[in-house]
Amino acid sequence: MRTGIPSRTAWSAAEHRAAHQVLEGGRIFSDPLAVRILGQDAETLARDAEQHPERRFMRIFIAARTRFAEEALAAEVERGVRQLVVLGAGLDTYAYRSPFRGCLRVFEVDHPVTQAWKRERLRDAAIPLPESLTFAPVDFERQTLAEGLAAAGFDPAQQTFFTWLGVVPYLTEAAVWSTLTFLAGLPGGAHVVFDYSDPPDTLAPEARAYHDRRAALVESLGEAWVTYFHPDALRVRLVALGFTEVEDLGLPQIAARYFPNRAAGLPEKGGHILRATAHAARL
Ligand SMILES: C[S@@+](CC[C@H](N)C(=O)[O-])C[C@H]1O[C@@H](n2cnc3c(N)ncnc32)[C@H](O)[C@@H]1O
Repeated sequence: MRTGIPSRTAWSAAEHRAAHQVLEGGRIFSDPLAVRILGQDAETLARDAEQHPERRFMRIFIAARTRFAEEALAAEVERGVRQLVVLGAGLDTYAYRSPFRGCLRVFEVDHPVTQAWKRERLRDAAIPLPESLTFAPVDFERQTLAEGLAAAGFDPAQQTFFTWLGVVPYLTEAAVWSTLTFLAGLPGGAHVVFDYSDPPDTLAPEARAYHDRRAALVESLGEAWVTYFHPDALRVRLVALGFTEVEDLGLPQIAARYFPNRAAGLPEKGGHILRATAHAARL
């Protein structure tokens, strides 16, 4: 990320969620605050998105990953999870519209500059901060998540759900594994949902060309994609860390689950959404 500048890709991801509400009626993922947090009117968003049909794939992927994460979270809250950490939150609005606000404590972790900007956006949009929310500013490349969360009052002895959407590709592999190692070692246990991409050299030509255009765009914004994973190798390493119940959806599975009627022509490889659990250590 560029020094001193809020994440530009956080803005784009939020724009995709908002455009999904306007153009697709939030069919995959409904978010009543998505447009409001941007401070733009729905017509401008719709016009802008329609002028860029190439954005559709990313818009649908982002809607699907958010829905997957929130459904998995809801299932774990039903089973007793009371602590959520939104890693690299950007303009994510879950904390402000969660149906579990009365019983779920939420920590939003993000780069300090992006987080300060989000707080301005929330203020400008008159979106109230729930009492259940705590902000934890952390630069994943310079500070440990453990330090940032401890300073915010996080309880490591409680089973915790982590969402980590749209962040992994931007971090070094060392930063990714340091975070996953921390999660796997939490005494209360952890659930995590994150998304990642197949390595570019494994993509079919059309998917590779699409990837290269997107990669050039995010690099020009100062937020290059630097980390990719081979799904099998990732699973092996997650299991070695202590994660079980690894559920990894590639594009065909994501399409089948969330937009079966519009899946034609999707490449086999590209993005993944993954959920994994590390159970509490038995003493
Ligand atoms: C593409 S945005 C995704 C935001 C949000 N999760 C979403 O889905 O809309 C990437 C997020 O990663 C955060 N990020 C990138 N590098 C970071 C770092 N080194 N430390 C902390 N956060 C970082 C950015 O601030 C930004 O919020």
